[in-house]
Amino acid sequence: MSMASAEMAADTAAAATPADPFVPQLYRVDRSTRDLADTVTLEFVPLSGERPPFTPGQFNMLYAFGVGEVAISMSGDCTARAFVHTVRDVGAVSGAIARLVSGAVVGLRGPFGTGWPLKSAEGSDIVIVTGGLGLAPLRPAIYHVLANRQRYGRVAILFGSRNPTDMLYREELAQWRQRLDIDIAVTVDHADADWRGNVGVVPALIPRTAFDPHDAVAMICGPEMMMRFAVNALRDAGLPAERIYVSMERNMKCAIGLCGHCQFGPTFVCKDGPVMRFDRVADIFSGREI
Ligand SMILES: Cc1cc2nc3c(=O)[nH]c(=O)nc-3n(C[C@H](O)[C@H](O)[C@H](O)COP(=O)(O)OP(=O)(O)OC[C@H]3O[C@@H](n4cnc5c(N)ncnc54)[C@H](O)[C@@H]3O)c2cc1C
Ligand code: FES
Repeated sequence: MSMASAEMAADTAAAATPADPFVPQLYRVDRSTRDLADTVTLEFVPLSGERPPFTPGQFNMLYAFGVGEVAISMSGDCTARAFVHTVRDVGAVSGAIARLVSGAVVGLRGPFGTGWPLKSAEGSDIVIVTGGLGLAPLRPAIYHVLANRQRYGRVAILFGSRNPTDMLYREELAQWRQRLDIDIAVTVDHADADWRGNVGVVPALIPRTAFDPHDAVAMICGPEMMMRFAVNALRDAGLPAERIYVSMERNMKCAIGLCGHCQFGPTFVCKDGPVMRFDRVADIFSGREI
């Protein structure tokens, strides 16, 4: 199947752009669930009206009052009532958001950016490669593929975690493993005494994964080093660069292509990404890490 640019446009055409992208709307924390010692999943509902629609892969700017604003990907189902975000406490703003309790109010701008190529990938095999917190921005895509399973060929989800204790969405991974219509492989860099699964890095799972390299689409999200090795392994398996999509993370401010904070040459990661076709970002990949 050839990936016509019109089809690709269809993937992001559904992406909503906010009415005034600079004005945060008020959202209330409806629920907060601790996933890991430093990671929580929060559900945000608007104080008035309904939340705008989003495409899996897009992100919001979350504003903790008096602290600051950060980009956080959608991690929930696009059919859910709330915006769901999984946040790792790595600094002042993400820490303030991760500590929010039910009832707390934040400012939220979005959704922004591009989505995963779920429409144009229909009919093709799907290979999802993800590591650590990278599973969060891919989870809405996984929900979509599972809910519309008949629209896709073979589906493989490959997930790597540093160790069994740091494994995100562990119970959900176990539920997905029960399904007979998808191929799930989980690996850890470092096992503990109870671990009976794969040990090693996630790209090493790719040569063992069944997909048709002439008719598959890969979606990758995780640490940049992992994504580089995953791209190499997929290309070694025969998958062309234009069928590989990655989600890029760069520091952001405006999120709408105005401030230049996330700019690499002609590319603005906030509006041309975060999800981008690998052949279009190969040079960014070889550039400086944030
Ligand atoms: C499009 C996009 C989607 C994102 N989605 C998520 C998500 O779903 N969940 C989540 O927890 N985080 C996500 N991030 C990362 C999040 O925005 C950063 O962790 C946050 O901006 C850090 O701000 P801070 O003030 O808490 O920490 P800071 O004090 O600003 O930074 C703390 C540490 O985190 C590093 N850092 C800062 N920004 C980033 C970044 N963008 N990526 C990686 N490291 C960074 C800094 O170099 C520093 O080492 C996303 C970023 C982008 C651009
Ligand atoms: S964040 Fe301002 S241009 Fe991308």
